[in-house]
Amino acid sequence: MNARAVCAIDLDALAGNLSALRRALAPGVRVCAVVKANAYGHGAAACAQTLAAGGVEMLATASPDEARVVRAAGVTVPILVLGGIDSRRDAVEDAWRLGLVPSLLDAEAARALAAVVPAGRRLRVHLKLDTGMNRAGLTPAAALDLVPLLRDGPFEIDGLYSHLACADEPSHPASRQQLEAFAAASADLEAAGLRPKIRHLANSAGALGDPALHLDMVRPGLALYGHRPNPALGPTVALRPVMEFASWIASIRPVPTGTGIGYGWTWQAKRPSLIATIRVGYAQGYPRALSNRGWVSLRGQRAPVVGTVSMEHLSVDVTDLPEARAGDRVLLWGAGPEAPDVMALGCAAGTIGYELLTGVATSVPGREDDSDEPA
Ligand SMILES: Cc1ncc(COP(=O)(O)O)c(C=O)c1O
Repeated sequence: MNARAVCAIDLDALAGNLSALRRALAPGVRVCAVVKANAYGHGAAACAQTLAAGGVEMLATASPDEARVVRAAGVTVPILVLGGIDSRRDAVEDAWRLGLVPSLLDAEAARALAAVVPAGRRLRVHLKLDTGMNRAGLTPAAALDLVPLLRDGPFEIDGLYSHLACADEPSHPASRQQLEAFAAASADLEAAGLRPKIRHLANSAGALGDPALHLDMVRPGLALYGHRPNPALGPTVALRPVMEFASWIASIRPVPTGTGIGYGWTWQAKRPSLIATIRVGYAQGYPRALSNRGWVSLRGQRAPVVGTVSMEHLSVDVTDLPEARAGDRVLLWGAGPEAPDVMALGCAAGTIGYELLTGVATSVPGREDDSDEPA
């Protein structure tokens, strides 16, 4: 067995998650599926094809390069480029050719872009407002100042959007505050003559959590890949994890009480123990932060990660699983009741499940990065 680990992507689960999410939306609310970062590590080409076949109205990538991967896969759905495009004539030509809808994120970029759009032509864009994330987007005041250019310049302002900072905490007041700020800015812009067709605010947390945040379109990422940003969000929406990450037992050794395991002997056997060495480590994307904190599923049973996760190995205590054998498949995370939950593992690692999903190495079969292929 050559591969140290494998990653399996269940596209039926992806399609099912889209349908489940749709059922939680009022009729007419559109879906913009976020496929940035190689679809959160799930493969942008295949995921975009599945989501397009499932009827999403829009896809979102971080950059035009990511969008090119989606287009190379034959997907024709409009693509919102969250990070915007360069203010160069060829970038604008590319946007038209590829059917990209760039975000306008700040006044300077909007002016620079307007200057390179050829006379007589218009670029379809979505205007991003900063309503509280304080990361990217125009403040409502800056957007109002820009209205003359936005209204009379070479743009078609198709959409107006913002991004929620705290929606994964359902009781956090920030989401409603952002909604109010967004509604007020939207009304001011409309009074000034700017009437975008689509207004959108909600990520997965907003889409699963509060219908008031849905507006004309939602922009889920994580939920489509089968996870909730917070287990309390959308408990009735049936989501199935799309990614399964697995490896194998290389060997099993019996060790006496007091034996230290792995680098630094950070775990020592408190009883005569059976320790399985698994062929995966942080080089394949299993976080070192899960040393002595993670768990795997083996023959349907939970077994704890013991000792320090190393570059290409980790150790698991299988003392209570004497039937475990070298060559057994080990589920690191995935779907099904016995599979470790990647969001819970993310918490245990002191991070979020998103980071684990996007962190599986491209050397792992099934996790090849689409963007490595020339588009
Ligand atoms: C602007 C924007 N919208 C939507 C999303 C999707 O977020 P989530 O995966 O939490 O649904 C992201 C992801 O980071 C984003 O940056």
